[in-house]
Amino acid sequence: MTNLDIIDKIKSLAKEKDAVILAHNYTRPEIQDLADFVGDSLELSRTASKLSSRAILFCGVYFMAETAYILSPDKTVLIPDPYAGCPMADMITGEQLRRLKGEYPGAKVVCYVNSTAEVKAESDICCTSANAVDIVNKIDSNDIIFVPDKNLGSYVSKMTGKRLILWQGYCPIHAMIKPEDIIRIKQEHPSAKVVVHPECSEDVIALADAVRSTSGMLRYVRETDGKEFIIGTESGILYRMKKENPEKQFFPVRRDTICVNMKKITLEKVLNSLEKEEYKVTVPEDIRIRALKAIERMLT
Ligand code: 13P
Ligand code: SF4
Repeated sequence: MTNLDIIDKIKSLAKEKDAVILAHNYTRPEIQDLADFVGDSLELSRTASKLSSRAILFCGVYFMAETAYILSPDKTVLIPDPYAGCPMADMITGEQLRRLKGEYPGAKVVCYVNSTAEVKAESDICCTSANAVDIVNKIDSNDIIFVPDKNLGSYVSKMTGKRLILWQGYCPIHAMIKPEDIIRIKQEHPSAKVVVHPECSEDVIALADAVRSTSGMLRYVRETDGKEFIIGTESGILYRMKKENPEKQFFPVRRDTICVNMKKITLEKVLNSLEKEEYKVTVPEDIRIRALKAIERMLT
């Protein structure tokens, strides 16, 4: 079967099964082209909470599909590959967070959406990279625990002026980007604007013109004058940037910043997922109810 045949089959099956296909900005180009909606974590959560379809087929990593299920437990939520995980989300467990909370009684807990349902259930409020600064700004407490991303946490701390108790998790893909990479590529393209994701380290962020979520980056390059942009995040974002701005030029800080988990979602697996209605993503009801509160506080 050619890719075009697979795409045709996916589209007719999705219609027949009343499934909406959501995809993250880092997924493969053919998956982004196929999806009904492509976005960052916040946009995908908002979209998932409003859909009226019977099923959601989530092209992204596991915690994203889990979030969709937490918001819409009446829907069948499918992920084409159940092993498409996020290593950062697995850097803290519910038990570890409970212990940390024990050390800081009364502290409010903010968890990055890149976390398991169990960690969300232990948190007061969720955030994504798009709204983390606003969320922390609104919290009225002297003690704020921020998990699991130390880099997003230290960026938020700087932007809000609040001291945060940080878990030492990080994204291994963004951790590949070093200040010397930015310095080198800036020398090659001196007039380019540098935009990076807040999962990058503090010393990388210090060299950037702008810090944005993935969809924030897309808006930034669209709305900013200038023809050249240096992009510090997972390479999958470049496809949409080039497609939406054919007159501009984009240079990845590094070419090897590839999230293998995002790339596990292929056309063949999407087709299989729809045909067999696998792999169904669910969350135990007691955890879902508590995680939902943290997500709803973020969305309202
Ligand atoms: P965004 O919410 O910015 O799309 O980020 C998700 C992610 O996993 C970044 O590594
Ligand atoms: Fe997780 Fe990093 Fe991949 Fe995003 S890019 S899904 S944070 S491993």
